Amino acid sequence: MSDAAVALGLSRDAAPDRARLASVAAAEPFVSIEGLVGGYGRAEILHGVDLVLGRGQSLCLIGPNGAGKSTVLHCLFGFAQVFEGHISVGGKDITRLSSSRKLKEAGIAYVLQDNSVFPDLTVEENLLMGGFLLPGTKDAKVAAERVFDRYDRLAKRRGERAKVLSGGERRLLEISRALIMDPAVLLIDEPSIGLEPRYIDLVFEVLTDLQRKDGKTILMVEQNAKKGLEFADIGYVLVAGRVALAGSGRDLLANPDVGRLFLGA
Ligand SMILES: Nc1ncnc2c1ncn2[C@@H]1O[C@H](COP(=O)(O)OP(=O)(O)OP(=O)(O)O)[C@@H](O)[C@H]1O
Ligand SMILES: [Mg+2]
Repeated sequence: MSDAAVALGLSRDAAPDRARLASVAAAEPFVSIEGLVGGYGRAEILHGVDLVLGRGQSLCLIGPNGAGKSTVLHCLFGFAQVFEGHISVGGKDITRLSSSRKLKEAGIAYVLQDNSVFPDLTVEENLLMGGFLLPGTKDAKVAAERVFDRYDRLAKRRGERAKVLSGGERRLLEISRALIMDPAVLLIDEPSIGLEPRYIDLVFEVLTDLQRKDGKTILMVEQNAKKGLEFADIGYVLVAGRVALAGSGRDLLANPDVGRLFLGA
Protein backbone atom coordinates (compact mmCIF):
# COMPACT_ATOMS: atom_id res chain seq x y z
CA MET A 1 0.00 0.00 0.00
CA SER A 2 1.26 3.50 -0.71
CA ASP A 3 2.35 5.87 2.04
CA ALA A 4 -0.71 7.99 1.42
CA ALA A 5 -2.99 5.00 1.80
CA VAL A 6 -1.28 3.91 4.99
CA ALA A 7 -1.39 7.42 6.38
CA LEU A 8 -5.06 7.72 5.63
CA GLY A 9 -5.57 4.45 7.48
CA LEU A 10 -7.14 3.02 4.42
CA SER A 11 -7.90 -0.49 3.60
CA ARG A 12 -10.10 -1.68 0.79
CA ASP A 13 -12.83 -2.29 3.32
CA ALA A 14 -12.70 1.28 4.55
CA ALA A 15 -13.13 2.74 1.08
CA PRO A 16 -16.42 4.61 0.66
CA ASP A 17 -19.09 2.43 -0.91
CA ARG A 18 -21.62 3.59 -3.45
CA ALA A 19 -24.21 4.43 -0.81
CA ARG A 20 -21.69 6.71 0.85
CA LEU A 21 -20.79 8.37 -2.47
CA ALA A 22 -24.49 8.88 -3.22
CA SER A 23 -25.02 10.49 0.17
CA VAL A 24 -22.01 12.78 -0.35
CA ALA A 25 -23.52 13.97 -3.65
CA ALA A 26 -27.01 14.18 -2.12
CA ALA A 27 -28.44 14.56 -5.59
CA GLU A 28 -29.73 12.46 -8.42
CA PRO A 29 -26.61 11.11 -10.18
CA PHE A 30 -25.95 12.96 -13.42
CA VAL A 31 -22.42 11.70 -13.99
CA SER A 32 -22.13 8.17 -12.65
CA ILE A 33 -19.17 5.81 -12.70
CA GLU A 34 -19.68 2.27 -11.47
CA GLY A 35 -16.95 -0.27 -10.83
CA LEU A 36 -14.53 1.27 -13.30
CA VAL A 37 -11.54 -0.89 -14.04
CA GLY A 38 -9.45 0.87 -16.63
CA GLY A 39 -6.04 1.72 -17.94
CA TYR A 40 -3.78 1.68 -20.95
CA GLY A 41 -2.94 -1.36 -23.05
CA ARG A 42 -2.52 -4.15 -20.55
CA ALA A 43 -1.80 -1.88 -17.62
CA GLU A 44 -4.66 -1.75 -15.16
CA ILE A 45 -4.51 1.64 -13.43
CA LEU A 46 -7.99 1.95 -11.94
CA HIS A 47 -9.14 -1.00 -9.88
CA GLY A 48 -12.82 -0.34 -9.34
CA VAL A 49 -13.62 3.36 -9.15
CA ASP A 50 -17.08 4.64 -8.34
CA LEU A 51 -18.19 8.24 -8.61
CA VAL A 52 -21.51 10.03 -8.20
CA LEU A 53 -21.98 13.64 -9.26
CA GLY A 54 -25.26 15.53 -9.48
CA ARG A 55 -26.24 17.93 -12.25
CA GLY A 56 -24.66 21.34 -11.74
CA GLN A 57 -22.34 20.09 -9.02
CA SER A 58 -18.55 20.18 -8.99
CA LEU A 59 -16.20 17.44 -7.88
CA CYS A 60 -12.45 17.60 -7.40
CA LEU A 61 -10.19 14.55 -7.46
CA ILE A 62 -7.02 14.88 -5.45
CA GLY A 63 -4.34 12.33 -4.62
CA PRO A 64 -0.68 11.52 -5.04
CA ASN A 65 1.11 11.57 -8.39
CA GLY A 66 0.35 8.49 -10.40
CA ALA A 67 -2.80 7.63 -8.41
CA GLY A 68 -4.84 7.55 -11.62
CA LYS A 69 -6.66 10.87 -11.38
CA SER A 70 -6.10 11.83 -15.00
CA THR A 71 -6.92 8.28 -16.01
CA VAL A 72 -10.43 8.67 -14.54
CA LEU A 73 -10.99 11.64 -16.86
CA HIS A 74 -9.36 9.74 -19.74
CA CYS A 75 -11.73 6.80 -19.25
CA LEU A 76 -14.69 9.15 -19.11
CA PHE A 77 -13.72 10.83 -22.34
CA GLY A 78 -12.48 7.75 -24.17
CA PHE A 79 -8.72 8.37 -24.04
CA ALA A 80 -8.07 5.31 -21.90
CA GLN A 81 -9.57 1.85 -21.97
CA VAL A 82 -12.44 0.72 -19.82
CA PHE A 83 -11.90 -2.95 -19.00
CA GLU A 84 -14.89 -3.27 -16.69
CA GLY A 85 -17.64 -1.09 -15.32
CA HIS A 86 -20.05 1.52 -16.60
CA ILE A 87 -20.10 5.25 -17.08
CA SER A 88 -23.31 7.16 -17.62
CA VAL A 89 -24.27 10.78 -18.07
CA GLY A 90 -27.84 11.92 -17.68
CA GLY A 91 -28.96 8.30 -17.43
CA LYS A 92 -27.39 7.40 -20.76
CA ASP A 93 -24.67 4.75 -20.87
CA ILE A 94 -21.66 6.35 -22.54
CA THR A 95 -19.02 3.76 -21.64
CA ARG A 96 -18.32 2.77 -25.22
CA LEU A 97 -19.03 5.97 -27.11
CA SER A 98 -16.18 7.48 -29.11
CA SER A 99 -14.70 10.73 -27.82
CA SER A 100 -16.31 12.74 -30.60
CA ARG A 101 -19.74 11.29 -29.84
CA LYS A 102 -19.20 12.02 -26.17
CA LEU A 103 -18.61 15.63 -27.08
CA LYS A 104 -21.31 15.91 -29.70
CA GLU A 105 -24.07 13.74 -28.32
CA ALA A 106 -23.44 13.37 -24.61
CA GLY A 107 -22.36 16.97 -23.95
CA ILE A 108 -19.03 16.14 -22.35
CA ALA A 109 -16.04 18.37 -23.00
CA TYR A 110 -12.49 17.76 -21.95
CA VAL A 111 -9.98 20.49 -21.21
CA LEU A 112 -6.57 18.93 -21.66
CA GLN A 113 -3.96 18.97 -18.89
CA ASP A 114 -1.20 19.98 -21.25
CA ASN A 115 -0.91 23.34 -22.82
CA SER A 116 -3.16 22.87 -25.81
CA VAL A 117 -3.60 26.20 -27.54
CA PHE A 118 -2.36 26.42 -31.10
CA PRO A 119 0.34 29.08 -30.67
CA ASP A 120 0.38 30.34 -34.25
CA LEU A 121 -3.38 30.56 -34.64
CA THR A 122 -5.20 33.64 -33.44
CA VAL A 123 -7.33 33.64 -30.33
CA GLU A 124 -10.42 33.57 -32.52
CA GLU A 125 -9.14 30.72 -34.69
CA ASN A 126 -8.31 28.75 -31.56
CA LEU A 127 -11.85 29.21 -30.33
CA LEU A 128 -13.35 28.15 -33.64
CA MET A 129 -11.33 24.92 -33.45
CA GLY A 130 -13.60 24.04 -30.53
CA GLY A 131 -16.47 23.80 -32.99
CA PHE A 132 -14.86 21.36 -35.39
CA LEU A 133 -17.69 18.89 -34.84
CA LEU A 134 -20.42 21.37 -35.63
CA PRO A 135 -22.08 20.96 -39.01
CA GLY A 136 -21.30 24.44 -40.34
CA THR A 137 -18.95 27.24 -39.35
CA LYS A 138 -21.83 29.55 -38.45
CA ASP A 139 -22.72 27.90 -35.14
CA ALA A 140 -19.10 28.00 -34.00
CA LYS A 141 -18.92 31.69 -34.90
CA VAL A 142 -22.04 32.46 -32.89
CA ALA A 143 -20.63 30.51 -29.95
CA ALA A 144 -17.28 32.31 -30.27
CA GLU A 145 -19.05 35.68 -30.13
CA ARG A 146 -20.76 34.55 -26.94
CA VAL A 147 -17.33 33.81 -25.48
CA PHE A 148 -16.05 37.25 -26.55
CA ASP A 149 -19.10 38.94 -25.01
CA ARG A 150 -18.35 37.19 -21.78
CA TYR A 151 -14.58 37.49 -21.58
CA ASP A 152 -13.35 40.91 -22.49
CA ARG A 153 -9.78 39.74 -21.96
CA LEU A 154 -10.11 37.41 -24.93
CA ALA A 155 -12.22 39.81 -27.00
CA LYS A 156 -9.49 42.43 -26.86
CA ARG A 157 -6.96 39.98 -28.28
CA ARG A 158 -9.13 38.05 -30.70
CA GLY A 159 -6.92 38.80 -33.70
CA GLU A 160 -3.62 38.15 -31.98
CA ARG A 161 -1.70 34.92 -32.08
CA ALA A 162 -2.34 32.76 -29.04
CA LYS A 163 1.36 32.54 -28.26
CA VAL A 164 1.36 36.15 -27.04
CA LEU A 165 -1.24 35.43 -24.34
CA SER A 166 -0.29 35.19 -20.68
CA GLY A 167 -0.53 31.80 -19.01
CA GLY A 168 -3.84 32.74 -17.40
CA GLU A 169 -5.30 33.99 -20.66
CA ARG A 170 -4.24 30.81 -22.38
CA ARG A 171 -6.00 28.72 -19.77
CA LEU A 172 -9.08 30.87 -20.21
CA LEU A 173 -8.85 30.26 -23.95
CA GLU A 174 -8.57 26.50 -23.42
CA ILE A 175 -11.64 26.50 -21.20
CA SER A 176 -13.53 28.77 -23.59
CA ARG A 177 -12.71 26.55 -26.54
CA ALA A 178 -14.41 23.70 -24.69
CA LEU A 179 -17.48 25.93 -24.24
CA ILE A 180 -18.03 26.27 -27.98
CA MET A 181 -19.96 22.97 -27.97
CA ASP A 182 -22.02 24.15 -24.99
CA PRO A 183 -21.25 21.03 -22.98
CA ALA A 184 -23.23 20.05 -19.90
CA VAL A 185 -20.18 18.45 -18.32
CA LEU A 186 -16.69 19.90 -18.21
CA LEU A 187 -13.75 17.64 -17.46
CA ILE A 188 -10.75 19.69 -16.41
CA ASP A 189 -7.32 18.36 -15.60
CA GLU A 190 -5.11 20.57 -13.42
CA PRO A 191 -6.52 23.99 -14.32
CA SER A 192 -4.07 25.78 -12.04
CA ILE A 193 -0.90 24.03 -13.17
CA GLY A 194 1.96 26.37 -14.01
CA LEU A 195 -0.01 29.54 -13.29
CA GLU A 196 0.90 32.48 -11.11
CA PRO A 197 -1.39 32.91 -8.07
CA ARG A 198 -3.42 35.76 -9.55
CA TYR A 199 -4.17 33.68 -12.65
CA ILE A 200 -5.07 30.70 -10.51
CA ASP A 201 -7.68 32.90 -8.85
CA LEU A 202 -8.92 34.03 -12.26
CA VAL A 203 -9.34 30.45 -13.48
CA PHE A 204 -11.26 29.42 -10.38
CA GLU A 205 -13.48 32.49 -10.68
CA VAL A 206 -14.26 31.52 -14.26
CA LEU A 207 -15.07 27.95 -13.23
CA THR A 208 -17.23 29.10 -10.33
CA ASP A 209 -19.12 31.35 -12.69
CA LEU A 210 -19.63 28.52 -15.19
CA GLN A 211 -21.00 26.29 -12.47
CA ARG A 212 -23.22 28.85 -10.75
CA LYS A 213 -24.49 30.87 -13.69
CA ASP A 214 -24.51 28.29 -16.47
CA GLY A 215 -25.22 25.23 -14.38
CA LYS A 216 -22.23 23.34 -15.77
CA THR A 217 -21.34 20.09 -14.07
CA ILE A 218 -17.61 20.13 -13.40
CA LEU A 219 -15.31 17.20 -12.77
CA MET A 220 -11.80 18.35 -12.02
CA VAL A 221 -8.41 17.01 -11.12
CA GLU A 222 -6.32 19.44 -9.15
CA GLN A 223 -2.84 19.17 -7.69
CA ASN A 224 -3.50 22.39 -5.78
CA ALA A 225 -5.74 20.54 -3.35
CA LYS A 226 -6.57 23.63 -1.32
CA LYS A 227 -7.90 25.56 -4.29
CA GLY A 228 -9.65 22.53 -5.73
CA LEU A 229 -11.40 21.61 -2.50
CA GLU A 230 -12.36 25.21 -1.76
CA PHE A 231 -13.98 25.34 -5.17
CA ALA A 232 -15.65 21.95 -5.39
CA ASP A 233 -18.85 20.81 -3.73
CA ILE A 234 -17.41 17.31 -3.47
CA GLY A 235 -13.89 15.98 -3.03
CA TYR A 236 -12.52 12.49 -3.61
CA VAL A 237 -9.06 11.31 -2.63
CA LEU A 238 -7.80 8.79 -5.13
CA VAL A 239 -4.99 6.52 -4.00
CA ALA A 240 -3.46 3.75 -6.12
CA GLY A 241 -6.41 3.51 -8.48
CA ARG A 242 -9.12 3.50 -5.83
CA VAL A 243 -11.28 6.09 -4.13
CA ALA A 244 -9.91 6.20 -0.62
CA LEU A 245 -11.96 9.00 0.84
CA ALA A 246 -14.95 11.08 -0.20
CA GLY A 247 -16.70 14.03 1.35
CA SER A 248 -17.79 17.57 0.78
CA GLY A 249 -14.93 19.82 -0.31
CA ARG A 250 -15.23 21.57 3.04
CA ASP A 251 -15.04 18.33 5.03
CA LEU A 252 -11.94 17.18 3.20
CA LEU A 253 -10.29 20.55 3.74
CA ALA A 254 -10.89 20.12 7.46
CA ASN A 255 -9.67 16.51 7.50
CA PRO A 256 -6.27 16.44 9.30
CA ASP A 257 -4.92 13.56 7.18
CA VAL A 258 -5.84 15.35 3.98
CA GLY A 259 -4.24 18.48 5.42
CA ARG A 260 -1.00 16.73 6.24
CA LEU A 261 -0.75 14.77 3.00
CA PHE A 262 -2.10 17.17 0.42
CA LEU A 263 -2.41 20.65 1.85
CA GLY A 264 1.11 21.05 3.15
CA ALA A 265 -0.27 21.64 6.64
N1 LIG B 1 -1.05 7.16 -22.00
C1 LIG B 1 -0.59 6.32 -21.06
N2 LIG B 1 -0.09 5.11 -21.40
C2 LIG B 1 0.39 4.26 -20.46
N3 LIG B 1 0.39 4.51 -19.13
C3 LIG B 1 -0.08 5.70 -18.73
C4 LIG B 1 -0.60 6.67 -19.68
N4 LIG B 1 -1.00 7.75 -18.98
C5 LIG B 1 -0.76 7.47 -17.68
N5 LIG B 1 -0.22 6.24 -17.54
C6 LIG B 1 0.15 5.59 -16.25
O1 LIG B 1 -1.01 5.49 -15.45
C7 LIG B 1 -0.69 5.74 -14.08
C8 LIG B 1 -1.62 6.80 -13.54
O2 LIG B 1 -1.37 8.00 -14.22
P1 LIG B 1 -2.31 9.26 -14.13
O3 LIG B 1 -1.79 10.22 -15.13
O4 LIG B 1 -3.73 8.87 -14.23
O5 LIG B 1 -2.00 9.74 -12.64
P2 LIG B 1 -2.37 11.09 -11.94
O6 LIG B 1 -3.00 10.73 -10.63
O7 LIG B 1 -3.13 11.98 -12.84
O8 LIG B 1 -0.92 11.67 -11.65
P3 LIG B 1 -0.35 13.18 -11.71
O9 LIG B 1 -0.76 13.81 -10.40
O10 LIG B 1 1.11 12.98 -11.79
O11 LIG B 1 -0.94 13.87 -12.89
C9 LIG B 1 0.79 6.12 -14.04
O12 LIG B 1 1.49 4.98 -13.63
C10 LIG B 1 1.10 6.45 -15.48
O13 LIG B 1 2.43 6.12 -15.79
MG1 LIG C 1 -2.71 13.75 -13.83
